[in-house]
Amino acid sequence: MIVIEPITVQNLQVFKEIRLRALKESPGAFGSNYARESVFTDEEWRNRITRWAGEAGIGYLAIDDEVACGIAGSFLHPNDPARAQLISMWTAPTRRHRGVGRMLVDSVAAWARLRGATILDLFVVANNSPAMRFYERLGFVRTGRTQPYPNDPALIEYEMARPLPPSHNLPAWMHPVSSRASSTPFALKFRYD
Ligand SMILES: CC(C)(COP(=O)(O)OP(=O)(O)OC[C@H]1O[C@@H](n2cnc3c(N)ncnc32)[C@H](O)[C@@H]1OP(=O)(O)O)[C@@H](O)C(=O)NCCC(=O)NCCS
Repeated sequence: MIVIEPITVQNLQVFKEIRLRALKESPGAFGSNYARESVFTDEEWRNRITRWAGEAGIGYLAIDDEVACGIAGSFLHPNDPARAQLISMWTAPTRRHRGVGRMLVDSVAAWARLRGATILDLFVVANNSPAMRFYERLGFVRTGRTQPYPNDPALIEYEMARPLPPSHNLPAWMHPVSSRASSTPFALKFRYD
């Protein structure tokens, strides 16, 4: 059974390991890179978690039989909180095509909708066709906006977006099984059967 857990200081080590695995395994997929983040101190990881677990951000891990196999995060846009941006999306190669990515995006979408966002958007590198097909499958479409890819300015990134359904329309299978030790109602742990 796969469980989606919010990233917190309690799972800092798991977060760090899976984020570095993602950067190493998919070096062309993210705005950051392994060389930069592999030298982060524990304090820098904790600061990142504070941002990812604050009012305007979230991070989720996918855990399969106690082994982390996926990660995704999101932030509300500072100048437009009606929009949330999906970031750091990654599924371990051995767990791909089993619905892990969809669960992570659904979890991020649920969080963003509860925060009041009506649009979920993201940037994907123009040569990352598999990820683009994945996002299209999940209802994202290209908006027409582009930006240079930070790791290689010769490449561009496409913006993709999709509307978020009202929270009462969340899928029935997305049922909270526990909440973490926090006052926020948005950090739920979801079980996917
Ligand atoms: C993109 C990625 C996150 C997809 O994760 P995943 O766990 O394999 O995705 P899922 O199994 O949840 O797939 C969800 C849907 O997308 C489809 N899909 C996934 N990968 C696909 C691909 N490469 N081509 C076409 N469709 C794809 C699946 O078939 C599924 O559709 P279905 O539910 O109708 O069968 C994963 O391939 C990955 O980590 N890639 C490397 C990192 C990366 O590129 N991240 C994106 C950065 S912008």
